[in-house]
Amino acid sequence: MTGKPSLHQLSRLLLAWYRENRRDLPWRNTRDPYAITVAEFMLHQTRVQTVLPYYQRFLGLFPTWASLAEASLDKVLKAWEGLGYYARARHLHELARRVCAQYNGQLPHSLDALLALPGIGPYTAGAILSICFSQDYPAVDGNAKRVLSRLFGIEADLSPSKATKHIQELAAQMLPPGQAGAFNQALMDLGATICTARQPACAQCPWTEACQARRLNIQEKLPLRQPRKTIPHDEIAAGVIWRDGFILIAQRPPHGLLGNLWEFPGGKREPGESLEECLVREVREELGIAIRVGQLLAKVRHAYTHFRITLYAYHCQYVSGEPQNLGCTAWKWVKPEELGEYAFPAANHAIIQTLQAAPQQQDKA
Ligand code: ADE
Repeated sequence: MTGKPSLHQLSRLLLAWYRENRRDLPWRNTRDPYAITVAEFMLHQTRVQTVLPYYQRFLGLFPTWASLAEASLDKVLKAWEGLGYYARARHLHELARRVCAQYNGQLPHSLDALLALPGIGPYTAGAILSICFSQDYPAVDGNAKRVLSRLFGIEADLSPSKATKHIQELAAQMLPPGQAGAFNQALMDLGATICTARQPACAQCPWTEACQARRLNIQEKLPLRQPRKTIPHDEIAAGVIWRDGFILIAQRPPHGLLGNLWEFPGGKREPGESLEECLVREVREELGIAIRVGQLLAKVRHAYTHFRITLYAYHCQYVSGEPQNLGCTAWKWVKPEELGEYAFPAANHAIIQTLQAAPQQQDKA
């Protein structure tokens, strides 16, 4: 190829590469819009290797829109437990209910109808329309943005919507008619396997000669990122509250971080408070009961996307009051061996393991 390749030539090069190198992934061996939509929800912000076991298990439990719509949210969250970003599970569940109630169990085929449904933004709509229904829509996720910003040497900060829109327009112009599904997934594979965030394998890239970033040797600098803000670090006190061999668990409010998951009651330490004082206050505010704080059972560090926590879990003894849903959605007294039936945030799993390894621990409360 001589001179600067056209967009059409670039997309042909990518498709040829994809034919040889496409990853064999379970959601690529089906045309079922439901199975593909589940994959897209799971893959949002999450790597293929992490998703694979969840995907197979989820489809085993909920093989159709109807089976997902009929399931309880608790069961869906349990199947999602550990995958993170739980709003995706809530939205997918809500989506299944809408598809069944409003569309007779068939996902709609138009961009506007898809964008009006829960959990579906421009990226997911583009992925569904191109992969399931062979429509010519781009699907530009973070990986695709990185690849295209390097290919075209775009040095603008990608967070502002203007630069992102420019990349989406370029992707739309490159789409090979009738093959958008393959093109979009090729871009994803290139981003995941070759044009990685660090140390891209440029020598193996089908666009190596055309790539502006490589020509200027700035491939590792693109896309430009905002300087990292310092990550907040919270200390959380949580109580394993015992009463006659049962433990009190609380369900978080439906929206926001870890919405609808179950947890050991507690919360964030305020300045000037000891962890024990924090725990007594949080449990009173959340459930309206009085407790006595006993021995420390576990200390767990956990990193979320935008902040970190250190979780201190204490054995506690129930003292008085009837639990109420003051700051939670629901509460339950459960036996230690029943804890596995509920979806808990990952930071709680070490606590559950400790409890289940040696269940008779209530005298430490
Ligand atoms: N990430 C998001 N969607 C994907 C897909 N269909 N294949 C591989 N990775 C993806």
